[in-house]
Amino acid sequence: MTVTEIPREATRLRPLISADQIAERVQVLGREIRADYGDETITLLCVLKGSFMFTADLARRIEGSVNIEFLGVASYGDQMESSGAVKITLDPAAPIEGKHVLLVEDIVDTGLTLAYLMRVLAARHPASLKICALLEKPSGNSPVRPDYLGFQVGKEFVVGYGLDWAQRYRNLPYVAAVELDHEASGSQDVGGSNA
Ligand code: IMP
Ligand code: MG
Repeated sequence: MTVTEIPREATRLRPLISADQIAERVQVLGREIRADYGDETITLLCVLKGSFMFTADLARRIEGSVNIEFLGVASYGDQMESSGAVKITLDPAAPIEGKHVLLVEDIVDTGLTLAYLMRVLAARHPASLKICALLEKPSGNSPVRPDYLGFQVGKEFVVGYGLDWAQRYRNLPYVAAVELDHEASGSQDVGGSNA
């Protein structure tokens, strides 16, 4: 089933990670990241749209010199699973060559999106290239792991704090699992519409 075939009313949200939990974790990540990079300028590369909120909060928790750039990617479409076929729809305004780039991603599922992005970005010769992801799903065989991770989640489809379901729910200040009303706890078969 694709996203567009599911009636939007027939869903329920089950809160998973509260706004307070996110804020606490983001603060810890910010400190950890600064400690690892020393005095270097860190270029946070926000992968739109899903990580806009996470990037905004993380940036405020990293002291010292930070640049922010944006990368637009379209994956998934209406499909349920990542094909790894990712299209870059917006390139960073400034070249990343010679910079310490920290890619900020909302969620790692199969890892195919990140693997593709890492290949493309590494070819542009940044001084260093690491990944900070808010969430990670237990896919098991992801080709890339985040260097910094907010939380592990289950296999269910999650929304909020930037993550969407057919463009909806990005504005939630917390992370929740999407449940279809007719499913008590069954498998999720909804897909994201946008990276
Ligand atoms: P991957 O290539 O399978 O790792 O897919 C990663 C991308 O799919 C993420 O950047 C998200 O945009 C999207 N995605 C995967 N799982 C979810 C989810 O549970 N909720 C919202 N978006 C998701
Ligand atoms: Mg994404």
